[in-house]
Amino acid sequence: MRARIPKVSRPQLLSPANQSRIAVIVAVLLGLATMTTFAGQAYASDKKALDFDFFGGQAGGPATPNHTVDPAAAEIEAKSQTRRWMLKVHQTLGITTWALMVGTVVVGQLNYNQLWGGGGGSTKWQTPHRVLVLSTSILFTTTAAFSILAPKPYDKPLRLDTGLVHRIAVIGATLGMVSEAVLGWITTHQADAGNPNNLRTMARTHQIIGYSTLGFLTVAGMVWVF
Ligand code: HEM
Ligand code: HEM
Repeated sequence: MRARIPKVSRPQLLSPANQSRIAVIVAVLLGLATMTTFAGQAYASDKKALDFDFFGGQAGGPATPNHTVDPAAAEIEAKSQTRRWMLKVHQTLGITTWALMVGTVVVGQLNYNQLWGGGGGSTKWQTPHRVLVLSTSILFTTTAAFSILAPKPYDKPLRLDTGLVHRIAVIGATLGMVSEAVLGWITTHQADAGNPNNLRTMARTHQIIGYSTLGFLTVAGMVWVF
């Protein structure tokens, strides 16, 4: 005969004792949840939400190009364009000045040969020299004006570069031009007045300064080539 298996009674989940336990646990959990919620809200009101601002308070989306033009940048751009144009013209005028200066020096030498270099003493080169002197001087001044009046949108610190060598050379050429004009005029008028004092020395000095002036202008132009 089989032993009799005692009947085990399964505890009842929702027995009155368990119901009251569950009620206590739920009450405690609700209490905790409520406290956490209030605490969280208080914390959130104290601290700002994540304050990344990717779009400057505006709606995001595909970037739209900024069409507003900065007036200062536009002015610099306009000045730069004028400067580029003026210096281009300056360069062309400068080369033309150099060519005319070669003509002035060649004809000046022919004049010198006639008057002081054992030639026949003819004054036939005097007018061509004068015409060339005048045209070279006008072009030289215009060339200088185009460089001096060119706008400078940016301040450039002074440093030893091609531009500085060019400036030094053109200062030399300018001094040469001025002294040549004065010395040539004095020499010619003194000779015309029949005063032989120092005439030969003055003509020689005029010749030397003439070649030096051409030399300065050649350097001024050549620095841009190398
Ligand atoms: C031989 C003929 C000449 C040539 C080929 C020449 C060429 C040039 C060039 C390429 C520049 C540079 C422009 C730049 O910064 O981009 C320049 C600047 C300059 N040139 Fe001449 N030039 C000549 C004659 C002269 C003469 C005769 C003068 C004045 C008497 C002169 C005065 C200047 C000055 C002051 C600058 C500086 C301008 C600045 O940076 O604002 N140049 N030249
Ligand atoms: C190597 C170059 C040059 C030589 C050999 C030369 C030679 C001469 C000679 C021989 C005279 C006549 C002097 C006299 O009557 O006894 C003269 C006059 C003159 N030269 Fe030059 N010259 C040269 C360059 C220049 C240059 C670069 C200038 C630029 C300004 C110049 C300006 C003058 C002037 C203004 C006169 C007076 C013209 C007149 O009133 O008839 N010369 N030159």
